[in-house]
Amino acid sequence: MEEPISRARSFGRRPVDYHTHRPFYPAEAIRWALAGATREVTRALDLAAGTGKVTAGLRALGLDVTAVEPDEAMRGVLAAEYPDVTALAGTAEAIPLTDASVDAVLVGQAFHWFDRDVALAEIARVLRPGGVLAVLWNGEDPDTDWVTGLMTASQTSATGGWHGEIDPPEHESFDPAEHTVVAHSLPRTTDTLVDYLRTHSRLLMVDDDERARVIARVREYLRHRPETAAGVFDLPLVTDVLALRRR
Ligand SMILES: C[S@@+](CC[C@H](N)C(=O)[O-])C[C@H]1O[C@@H](n2cnc3c(N)ncnc32)[C@H](O)[C@@H]1O
Repeated sequence: MEEPISRARSFGRRPVDYHTHRPFYPAEAIRWALAGATREVTRALDLAAGTGKVTAGLRALGLDVTAVEPDEAMRGVLAAEYPDVTALAGTAEAIPLTDASVDAVLVGQAFHWFDRDVALAEIARVLRPGGVLAVLWNGEDPDTDWVTGLMTASQTSATGGWHGEIDPPEHESFDPAEHTVVAHSLPRTTDTLVDYLRTHSRLLMVDDDERARVIARVREYLRHRPETAAGVFDLPLVTDVLALRRR
């Protein structure tokens, strides 16, 4: 019998699946975020790093990356995938770094789980002036008809929390947020699309019976859509990025 867990910490139930089936962030989105800094960016913090999806993008740019993640299982995958990255236990509300020690803080798919005001004060503390905070979300493209139908078909009794709406962070230590959207995609089959959906909290938080019913409904839906009925197809995605410069 599994222990009850909070939605924010549900991802650690399937950390390897998470890393295998969730998309990375487009290089263009990460580069755009870092371009908001008015200082040279050499050291970056991936906050709520999970299995290292943002870490991967920061490392590809040659940055010195520190990852902070509270969930041991998620952090374990990150440490195995990126052994050269310093991976620390910690939360956004109590970041285990010294004052003014990084040039950029990036948060992928997690800012909506934070105690916002406490986290913003902590992020301001560890960021050097002229550095940048960027919050990123990968989501399914809401303007593609078959994807909208997929989202409806994959709803569960635990659907809730974050629905894709973005309320820009505001804090006296930061300039107003700037926003961009980068389109990309994830090649999928019916099976791997189901694997991807199973890593989302709305499916992690329900019991086995409900999960099986929802997955059967999703498979039925995909079988009847011309876009997804056969072979490999692209799941259209958008990455939303909000970037705020530290004053
Ligand atoms: C959806 S995952 C995102 C992981 C990774 N950043 C990515 O983009 O794939 C959300 C992560 O936020 C972490 N998390 C939840 N609450 C947190 C908090 N208050 N502070 C830091 N991390 C938190 C969870 O443990 C989980 O690994």
